[in-house]
Amino acid sequence: MSASHAGGLIIRQEEPRNLEFPFDRLDSYLTPVESFYIRSHLHAPMIEADSYRLTVDGAVKNPSAITLNWLKSLPAKTIVATLECAGNSRVFLVPQKPGAQWELGAVGNAEWTGVPLATLLDQAGLNANAREVVLEGADRGLPAELPRPPEPINYSRSIPLDKALDDVLLAYAMNGVDLPQDHGFPVRAIVPGHYGMASVKWLIHIRVLEEQFQGYWQTIDYGFWDEVGGIPVRRPLSQVAVKSEIARPRTFEVLPKGQPFTVYGAAWCGTGDVVSVELTTDGGQTWAAAKFLDPIRAHAWRRWSYDWEIPGHPGRFTLKSRARNAAGESQPEKFDERYFSYVVNYTLPIEVVVQ
Ligand code: MTE
Repeated sequence: MSASHAGGLIIRQEEPRNLEFPFDRLDSYLTPVESFYIRSHLHAPMIEADSYRLTVDGAVKNPSAITLNWLKSLPAKTIVATLECAGNSRVFLVPQKPGAQWELGAVGNAEWTGVPLATLLDQAGLNANAREVVLEGADRGLPAELPRPPEPINYSRSIPLDKALDDVLLAYAMNGVDLPQDHGFPVRAIVPGHYGMASVKWLIHIRVLEEQFQGYWQTIDYGFWDEVGGIPVRRPLSQVAVKSEIARPRTFEVLPKGQPFTVYGAAWCGTGDVVSVELTTDGGQTWAAAKFLDPIRAHAWRRWSYDWEIPGHPGRFTLKSRARNAAGESQPEKFDERYFSYVVNYTLPIEVVVQ
């Protein structure tokens, strides 16, 4: 197995394709298409633009099946949104948890162009009891993890109706070019502020439901343990928790003592803007403010930097960054076990060697 793919991505799984962006290469606000991580549960379907149909049905008055040309003829919108896989940074968990051992790069920031989902839902005419919108991809198969359904299923996720009507985009372009096959050609959903699993690729079916959707990737996978009155209950993951990551230095990078070094990274959050990033270079005893390199933009990351004077004596040093959002939520110090192997947003230690 080769170590990397054409865009320099790290191979976590060859087929279905799961490729990671080497986060220490972060150097642009928009992640180039060829460097954007790929997370696919099933084999990527090949869809011809000419025969593509997007079905809208369920609890609606006017079900329809629309073509790509028709979708592209509707008023378009372009947004910048960060997509982070809920399992990003899983490799930091001790003891190790099952699943792809993503480091820091199952995240990217891109410009997405498409049609608001609200436009299609308006045209379809929602029934009064409509409550959720299921987005279904063309990829079909048996999930890798137990308990599996008895028959192959399509990848699907639902979103609450208020979110569906708010800012979900049916995107056909990424950074100004047609969506590449691995990112969902010809149409995918972009659900801003939610973990990547919600942004269904190869979207072929929009189904409006009057009841709660209980699909595989809604309950068995991509769920977490919340609680109601002290009783644990299973809920689907949704909004991205506040997080920052250090791109440079890399873990175990060897740095020359007594030299200046610019620590560099990015921070993002699904709800509310990231308003501060702090850095510690002494394992958490003291924290100092980093400076932002990008302005606030809803649902998009902000890169940041911090000018560090590397200590004049050799040793091992632990760097951590900590972001805070406008609501005052900060990254926790420890992993929250309710998420089992997802939402790894605690302040991640990056150990470096000074000599
Ligand atoms: N959509 C379909 N149809 N099939 C998938 O396997 N993976 C989801 C989501 N949409 C997936 C999907 C997950 S878990 C993530 S993190 C994002 O797509 C990744 O999008 P990307 O591969 O374009 O980075």
